[in-house]
Amino acid sequence: MNGQLAGLPATGLSKNSVGLGLRSSHIDQILQQRPEVPWFEVLMENHTARGGLIADQLAAVREHYPISLHCLGMSIGGVDPLNMDYLATLKWMIKQYQPVQVSDHLCFTRYGKHQFNDLLPIPLTTESFQHIGSRIKQIQDYLGIRILIENVSSYLQFEASEMNEAEFLSELVSETGCGILLDINNAYVNEFNHGYSAKAFIDTLPIDSVGEVHLAGYEDKSDYLIDAHNNRVTDPVWALFEYYLQYAKGAPVLIEWDNDIPEFSVLLDEAEKAERIISRTSESRFPGSVRTDVPGKCATC
Ligand SMILES: [Fe+2]
Repeated sequence: MNGQLAGLPATGLSKNSVGLGLRSSHIDQILQQRPEVPWFEVLMENHTARGGLIADQLAAVREHYPISLHCLGMSIGGVDPLNMDYLATLKWMIKQYQPVQVSDHLCFTRYGKHQFNDLLPIPLTTESFQHIGSRIKQIQDYLGIRILIENVSSYLQFEASEMNEAEFLSELVSETGCGILLDINNAYVNEFNHGYSAKAFIDTLPIDSVGEVHLAGYEDKSDYLIDAHNNRVTDPVWALFEYYLQYAKGAPVLIEWDNDIPEFSVLLDEAEKAERIISRTSESRFPGSVRTDVPGKCATC
């Protein structure tokens, strides 16, 4: 597989294109005003859960915007058999909405009859690697596409782990052909919580395999951080985003905001900030490549 969804057109997105998470409280405004947002990320569970986005709304948004599908329920790190009902629904949604990317997380979210909304951590061992690699291959074969796997934030580490998360993800890319969804906020939360370097995490990843980037806000509990997605992106995460951009190959970037959803204008404001940083970094990497006289665009902030 070459990274594009089989049988689907190329994304058409420009390099480092900054999209927004699609939230039900914003959909009417989006459909009425058609803001210049290059793409939206849709949480699959928002569509399938009772009371979530209804199909007509999602179809109307898709008519005007590319979407990516972000999942919580593949449970690639789980020990139960893969949930084929869930994957069948996802396969139908891929056919119906033709997303530019499909992603889930390096974690488990299901055990027996229990479905969790939390992204539960896994020991990073050779045994879990073989188990997860096999499940990713099964999922990709069934869906007929490459999927992206996202690094997660965590609040504990396993003594049994034999490699770090970046090494684990890199090996998964080699083993399965999957891509990486790089969540820069998660990398920073883990740096704070566990004391290792987020820059080293980024340095270890095969940057060519990064198919999407997440930026989000965390909740500061003073001696630890929670990946709450209920705030603006913080300065250390913006700085880490700028570090990543030195090496970036142009993967789409998402402003991820899942709780305490603000006015849509706040999300647009965060996206504009990301775009300013992308322009500034691009100008320093490729002098003369970026216009700085565009009204409303500040080249230095
Ligand atoms: Fe994320």
